[in-house]
Amino acid sequence: MTTINAATYPIHFEEKGYQELTSLVSERNYSSIFVLVDDNTSNCCYPRFMELFFTNKPMEVIQIEAGEVHKNIETCVGVWNAMTELGADRKSLLITLGGGVITDLGGFVASAFKRGIDFVNIPTTLLSMVDASVGGKTGVDLGVLKNQIGVFANPELIVIDAEYLQTVTPREIRSGTAEIIKYGMTHDIRLFNEIKDNDELNIVDLIHRSIEIKNEVVLEDPKEQSVRKVLNWGHTIGHGIESYFLENNKKEALTHGEAIAIGMVCEAYLSSKVLGFPENQVTEIKEAIVNIYGKVALYEEDFDPILKLMKHDKKNVGGEINFVLLRNYEDFEINCNASEILIRESLMFYVTYK
Ligand code: GLY
Repeated sequence: MTTINAATYPIHFEEKGYQELTSLVSERNYSSIFVLVDDNTSNCCYPRFMELFFTNKPMEVIQIEAGEVHKNIETCVGVWNAMTELGADRKSLLITLGGGVITDLGGFVASAFKRGIDFVNIPTTLLSMVDASVGGKTGVDLGVLKNQIGVFANPELIVIDAEYLQTVTPREIRSGTAEIIKYGMTHDIRLFNEIKDNDELNIVDLIHRSIEIKNEVVLEDPKEQSVRKVLNWGHTIGHGIESYFLENNKKEALTHGEAIAIGMVCEAYLSSKVLGFPENQVTEIKEAIVNIYGKVALYEEDFDPILKLMKHDKKNVGGEINFVLLRNYEDFEINCNASEILIRESLMFYVTYK
């Protein structure tokens, strides 16, 4: 698969990725290499990584606990302490090997350690391959508020190796699929149609196109001043739902994609009310999402806390909840507003679907 060039770094695919990483490490003459893993990827992914990556530099593995609840500043402090004890310096390289928590947190750790060291992302979940690892967003959560602390910092290189997807659950694959659906609705409807209509689909076939779309958007607007906001399609309501399920002990946490999928249904409803997005397509989205993700147990009593969490979203300015909405497939508008009544209606639209 052809390399995709981001502004300052290449995104290499399959085994070529490891060859390029090996060359990078010898060309840059790093003093030492740190590989950040979690307790899943240390078992499932690190052995493959070690089969394909060669170096004679000193190398250390730092392991953190898996899961979004560990994506916080305390975990970063633990990694910084470990790096310090293991002798990391400004010429060290950090390789992140894991899902979105590892690539987001690892990128942040690297960008702040001694005012910034180089890092390389090797995403191992579908979600991190098609979204989190690409585009330079790094950071951690603050309590249940997602990605509140972070910086833009680009890796030196990304390796996309779909073999790692053998190690993840179907539920995690469906989580990443939501981001591919997102790219489909906003930029290339074929992606959504393939997922919706093709029972024989191999999702790996949609990874390259998804990254191409994300990269084009980020090249145009790296710091999310304008068009990059489109990548938040489904995320305004989706993040509210995700945070709510995460903080509520009575609810089983949703994956990011499960929450974003509900967000796309609700925001499709808002799009129809605010921008005249065709109603038959709102229905098509709702049916496809419920078909893929099932119907999540969400009730009217959940709306208040979800709305409260949405008001904290870092994308909001001046207290207004900021949406990207669709006029049609592949035709979006950023910086849209919707009244609280309409937002409640959109949640009800999902809740009342039988
Ligand atoms: N995940 C949205 C973005 O990277 O902008």
